[in-house]
Amino acid sequence: MATPAINVQNLTKSYGPVLAVDDVSFQVQPGELVGFLGPNGAGKSTCMRILTTWLPASSGYAWLSGFDVMYQSMEVRRRIGYLPESVPVYPEMRVREYLSYRARLKGVDRNGRSARIDYCLAKCQIKEVQTRLLNTLSKGYRQRVGLADALLAEPPILILDEPTSGLDPVQINETLATIKELRGKHTVLLSTHILTEVEKVCERVVIIDKGRIKLDETMKAIEAREPSYAVEVRGPAEAVTKFLRDQPELSAVEAKSQDGDLTEFEVKAKDRKDPREALASKLIAKGWAVRRLELRKVNLDALFNEVVRSRYAAQEPAPAAATEPAASLPPLEPPQAPTA
Ligand SMILES: Nc1ncnc2c1ncn2[C@@H]1O[C@H](COP(=O)(O)OP(=O)(O)OP(=O)(O)O)[C@@H](O)[C@H]1O
Ligand SMILES: [Mg+2]
Repeated sequence: MATPAINVQNLTKSYGPVLAVDDVSFQVQPGELVGFLGPNGAGKSTCMRILTTWLPASSGYAWLSGFDVMYQSMEVRRRIGYLPESVPVYPEMRVREYLSYRARLKGVDRNGRSARIDYCLAKCQIKEVQTRLLNTLSKGYRQRVGLADALLAEPPILILDEPTSGLDPVQINETLATIKELRGKHTVLLSTHILTEVEKVCERVVIIDKGRIKLDETMKAIEAREPSYAVEVRGPAEAVTKFLRDQPELSAVEAKSQDGDLTEFEVKAKDRKDPREALASKLIAKGWAVRRLELRKVNLDALFNEVVRSRYAAQEPAPAAATEPAASLPPLEPPQAPTA
């Protein structure tokens, strides 16, 4: 099997008493476009800073294209384009001048440099501002300069921390289209808070919360999860509940809410057969009014809410706190990057 583009093993990072990343492991294969999601403070940016060698981990390992972020940081840097959360641009430079400077730093071939800058300016829709001073650009434009910078050296791996934050709706769509085009040619790890963006472009999602991975699943697998049905029936609640539980085509029946003689149920069907038509006629035959029978597919929004809601649930342990305030020293010898 090919070496994973990104391979993270038991990565942990504490900022003093704050455990920001807690034993995180995941892999991204070459050419994959993965959405990295999580609520505010979940640990996304911290993970990304470690992967891009800007921050040392407290423990654990990460390899990019097989190179250790700690011990082979220059090799890693040569292979990544990083768009940080806040783009560190030089305010007194002009856009093209800045990209030219960055291209020189990144070792972009002198002969192809100008053409490459033109290509990145066009890709990120910033050609019209190429002579503007960076400090006169709006946040969205600065973000796009950051994306152009990340693309300059045609890195095989792109780590993009909220690339659409601060953009207007039109630019969001254009930036997403640009990122989508990168799929296959580049490996992309993309953090965002906008779930519809992820649904539009990503093949897989990794959800992190309180520093821990809560979900790592392909969009296809999420779409293929077993749907449920919302059933709202007007009738004697107890009798309706018993009746639904007796139906052979249903595998689970749960009363969700009750308002007078109107009860809302969430039901699941056996063998993934849509039970709605059969249920409707049976309920009506019993003389009960059916107010709603609705298919509810599992989507990213529902899954994300499930993960995030659990942080407020009573049975959840208190927010993670580090027991060891200081970062432990890395081992003297780096381990070999596994190839599988
Ligand atoms: N330099 C720092 N010093 C101390 N604590 C920090 C530092 N940077 C981040 N943290 C803490 O680490 C945790 C993870 O922060 P991080 O920025 O990685 O989250 P995030 O998932 O990127 O959040 P957001 O969606 O708001 O960008 C938070 O509790 C944050 O307060
Ligand atoms: Mg962040």
